Amino acid sequence: MTLRVNDAVHVIELDHRTTLLDLLREHLALTGSKKGCDQGQCGACTVLVDGRRVNSCLLLAVAQEGREVVTIEGLADAVGADGDLHPLQQAFLDRDALQCGYCTPGQLCSAVGMLEEARSGQPSVVTDTERPTDAPVRLTAEEIRERLSGNLCRCGAYPHIVEAVQEVVVRDMAAREVTA
Ligand code: FES
Ligand code: FES
Repeated sequence: MTLRVNDAVHVIELDHRTTLLDLLREHLALTGSKKGCDQGQCGACTVLVDGRRVNSCLLLAVAQEGREVVTIEGLADAVGADGDLHPLQQAFLDRDALQCGYCTPGQLCSAVGMLEEARSGQPSVVTDTERPTDAPVRLTAEEIRERLSGNLCRCGAYPHIVEAVQEVVVRDMAAREVTA
């Protein structure tokens, strides 16, 4: 099969039962995405497929042919100049939003997907039901906690993770007001 990962095309022969997570880790040596539960419950394996966050342990690799996969290793490259971290990666560092770091790649990929979901107006269970359905959702701390609730952190770094995401959300909004 052919798979595009972090802007590189890979032609791979594999057992058709291989998950996307195992393909990334075992065949492409992209070990940033972590295997926690291997059952879709912890979010450690989260990557982006066509810009949407997914649990890669639950997807068959062969079903991703023709799609664009971005892992934690490609997050920085996806947004800017060589060597620049993604703003969320930088905010996690600045805010000390990790301890052991095992959940961090999944938290970061999930946060990137979440920002896009909120921008495009996708509601969560805590979103005000009275708002116009196509308006961007304001990412309050409550929204961030709810939207990242599929990503577990055994170290309990949650308060700093929420702060780091909020910092990026606020900067993002300020930048959009300047360019509007
Ligand atoms: S390893 Fe995929 S959700 Fe836990
Ligand atoms: S930082 Fe250790 S599991 Fe989250």
